[in-house]
Amino acid sequence: MCGIVGYIGNEKASDVILKGLERLEYRGYDSCGITYYDPKQKTFITNKDRGRVLKLLNSYKYPDDNHFAIGHTRWATHGVANQNNSHPHFSQSQRFVIVHNGVIDNHKELVFKYLNNYEFVSDTDTEVIANLVEEFSHKLSIEEAIRKTISLLEGSFAFLIIDTENIDTLYAVKNKSPLLIGESKNGIVLGSDVLAFINYAESYYLLEDNSFIIIKRNNGDFSFKIMDTIGFELEKPEKHKMDFVTDEIGKAGYEHYMLKEISEQPAVIRKIMSQYMVGNELKVSPKITNMFEGIKKVYILAAGTSYHAGLIGRVYFEEIAKIPAEVFIASEFAYNEPLIEPNSLFVLISQSGETADIRSCLLNVKEHGFKTLTITNVSSSTLAREADNYLNIFAGTEIAVASTKAYVGQIAVLAILANTLSKQHSLDLVSEMSRAAVSMENIIDKRDYISEVVGCSIKSHDCFYIGRGLDYFVCLEAALKLKEITYMNTMGIAAGELKHGTMALIEKDVPVIAIISQEHINNNTRSNLEEAKAREATPLIISLENTSKGNDDIVLMDVHRLLSPLVTVIPAQLIAYYKAVELDYDVDKPRNLAKSATVE
Ligand code: G6P
Repeated sequence: MCGIVGYIGNEKASDVILKGLERLEYRGYDSCGITYYDPKQKTFITNKDRGRVLKLLNSYKYPDDNHFAIGHTRWATHGVANQNNSHPHFSQSQRFVIVHNGVIDNHKELVFKYLNNYEFVSDTDTEVIANLVEEFSHKLSIEEAIRKTISLLEGSFAFLIIDTENIDTLYAVKNKSPLLIGESKNGIVLGSDVLAFINYAESYYLLEDNSFIIIKRNNGDFSFKIMDTIGFELEKPEKHKMDFVTDEIGKAGYEHYMLKEISEQPAVIRKIMSQYMVGNELKVSPKITNMFEGIKKVYILAAGTSYHAGLIGRVYFEEIAKIPAEVFIASEFAYNEPLIEPNSLFVLISQSGETADIRSCLLNVKEHGFKTLTITNVSSSTLAREADNYLNIFAGTEIAVASTKAYVGQIAVLAILANTLSKQHSLDLVSEMSRAAVSMENIIDKRDYISEVVGCSIKSHDCFYIGRGLDYFVCLEAALKLKEITYMNTMGIAAGELKHGTMALIEKDVPVIAIISQEHINNNTRSNLEEAKAREATPLIISLENTSKGNDDIVLMDVHRLLSPLVTVIPAQLIAYYKAVELDYDVDKPRNLAKSATVE
């Protein structure tokens, strides 16, 4: 979702902002903008519009001596994606300029109470923040005006604000939405993600909620101080070194990040194995297993693809570790709290570690004293920091909005966790995971064949995946992938449920793809597919060698029954990828979607 970048320093600020915004593109956005100070004209210039950062870069000239700027990628929440609603926004008199990530829940009440005489030019809640600061600045210092504004805001927000009468100071505020500070000898950069700092910072700091940061230029030096919202200066948080391998964030010769990330999946499994290898076993540390002592039930909370990994995790907890488990979509759990067993532990699964729906659950269950464990790809993320412990999935930066390698990473780590907790260590995970990685590699190598299958068989605007048990959970993920990047109307259905309603949608040439990796339900799923065939659907079967029959379309090298999701998901990811390419869609940045969903 929205990304923000701010800079004050010696470099050309517009470059820092626009490169930073490009690095944040993966978060998803539909408009973008920049405000920079032009010293020759002695004024702030703003360029903003619907569309891509590349347009901001190519359509305008930026003077070499601009050294102070803020920028934004907007994922529309309040108001459509157009130029007017793009950030930066100004206060009524144009004195204050702001970029904001998050949602101000009480913006209407604030307008009613404090800003009756103000005219608003956009539909956004952001303009309210700028105008509140302006309103309070008539009687208070700027710092006090910002602090008073923060004290009134309800919701999630990270924002940068410039007082155009002071070209040496940038103000920043963080509460719930992500914001980090990067530092180098040459200046200070702020951003929603550390990726925005690459090439412009040597180190960075993670900020706590309710931080108010003042960044100053002072005789060629740059400094910042962090205060709480009352005005007390806080100690600087731990300094982290920027240690990004630039390779990790390039496309490495692939046409799209998504294809690169799909291809990296066997390597992700091997990386996870190397990270969790203890002696000759795959294990989580005693610090994690100790958390499960006396635990009677595990609740898994997640969203999107991570929720689909969670469904598989539930099977692992129950079948391997013999601990009862339930999975909830985080945004549902937040508002329909079930009756929770007292000795429960919460596992939060999140690629980004920033999903607002999950975070609100985390804060809630922590308040009730439950133990919490995050499984994430980003060890510096909010969920990793705020849960009692976290497990890293070591998938490397995932840039494509449609998640692929993080999903298999989450499943692999869930398997290792459940197996460590099982009294018998029931699975020989070292050999089973190695085998799964080879099977994954096999199908990735045959990706041209999948592209042919797509060309021949996926021709309608609808598509259905059917499966049972673990296969059904993969069907949910397979359908999500296809709808995310091809905009096709796709559903993942429990094969046995097809006849209970969805069959009404099956007609000539609609693809119905069955995933069959579990021998005990092999014939059942095949019968359900026959029923669809009888309605002239186009059938496709993805099976494993030991569940395959006759002319199954995609047959995958055998893997352990419980690890089959690691492999069966890959043809589904490739089907989505090649269909999106065929339709000429923006594979890595699908419309309307955000990689990191930082608003509830
Ligand atoms: C967004 C992304 C999805 C992702 C979901 C949960 O909607 O577009 O790809 O699965 O958020 O994200 P998380 O980072 O918590 O796994």
